[in-house]
Amino acid sequence: MNSCLRVDTGHVSYPIHIGSALLQQPQLIATYIQHSAVFVVSNLAIAELYLDRLKSALDGFVIDEFLIGDGEHYKTIQTVEDIVGAMLASGQTRETTVIALGGGVVGDIAGFAAAVYQRGVKVIQIPTTLLAQVDSSVGGKTAVNHTLGKNMMGAFHQPSAVLIDVDVLNSLPRRELRAGLAEVIKHGALADADYLSWLKTNAKELLSLHKNTITEMVLRSCEIKSRVVSEDEKEAGVRALLNLGHTFGHAIETLSGYGVWLHGEAVAVGMVMAADLSARLGKLTWEDARYLKSLVEAFELPSSPPGNLTPEQLLVAMARDKKATAKGIRFVLLNALGDACLEEDVPVEILRRTLQAGETLCCG
Ligand SMILES: NC(=O)c1ccc[n+]([C@@H]2O[C@H](COP(=O)([O-])OP(=O)(O)OC[C@H]3O[C@@H](n4cnc5c(N)ncnc54)[C@H](O)[C@@H]3O)[C@@H](O)[C@H]2O)c1
Repeated sequence: MNSCLRVDTGHVSYPIHIGSALLQQPQLIATYIQHSAVFVVSNLAIAELYLDRLKSALDGFVIDEFLIGDGEHYKTIQTVEDIVGAMLASGQTRETTVIALGGGVVGDIAGFAAAVYQRGVKVIQIPTTLLAQVDSSVGGKTAVNHTLGKNMMGAFHQPSAVLIDVDVLNSLPRRELRAGLAEVIKHGALADADYLSWLKTNAKELLSLHKNTITEMVLRSCEIKSRVVSEDEKEAGVRALLNLGHTFGHAIETLSGYGVWLHGEAVAVGMVMAADLSARLGKLTWEDARYLKSLVEAFELPSSPPGNLTPEQLLVAMARDKKATAKGIRFVLLNALGDACLEEDVPVEILRRTLQAGETLCCG
């Protein structure tokens, strides 16, 4: 089952192809490369698994490559400078197409390098983690980190195409798979309650990577992400709803030290905390809050913050987050499952109750 959907922002439009064995389809990839030069950016671990496969599919093109080290700590402006240096040294012009082969880290760095190389060249995203397939490769947000903050330098640079080969998920570490599933649950929670019940019914197949079920899930999540991005390319409005779970999640990530929690794990807990807060504010029923928590647990994800973080620490970290606005901390909350909203006026005493709840989150 191979599918194609489009992101259409009004000023750019591009396809997302989803299916099995896409990396073995030279004609498909070639459709999105206008000239002969291709510059592949990947990392050492992913290149070992998939670079040869991609190169075989690019037979006839002039291919150069740059492999970065593996990990978030390479997501720096220095790596972008190294990529630009390698592109200049190998004579790349504005006609070159960059291909990002990797997870969200590679996609964000390669996308940013493509956005700035000679004021912008085309980029094709070939995401290899579930998180990148359902989230970071779609929507054109690219960035690198600064020592003072994550994703603090970046650009909106939409890809020419996103090619999602679900077969690559077979080599993904299980913990990374689960982290990606948290973003999938997020899509259902913010936009589609039926999708949430489908996820619950199919949890076992999804965790065991049943191919057709995974493909359907990636498609449904990409439909939600592309719909939101098409409506709001530069995050001026509705796109902010994709940050469900992030205000709490970022605080957990920051306080625990980056790398201790995977982003998706922190988002999973963040969603449960957002559901708890929504219920305390009378927006969501406790029953629905508990349903979301049980879904997070069904996918073997954490559903409460680490016990060593105090409510005060979480509160301070959230107020420092870049999603804090002049009025206060900005939350994405739930009016109902599948119906998210932005809220900037949460009374601090109610917020404290959520922060104090620990394992009793969503118990009502
Ligand atoms: N641009 C956006 O809209 C957006 C959205 C969400 C997250 N992000 C960014 O994405 C990044 C996280 O991405 P991620 O979760 O994909 O992590 P990642 O890119 O670090 O990949 C996780 C690990 O899996 C390995 N890996 C990747 N594909 C594999 C495969 N098929 N088989 C085996 N191993 C594989 C990687 O080498 C790495 O060790 C963060 O930097 C985050 O800021 C960006």
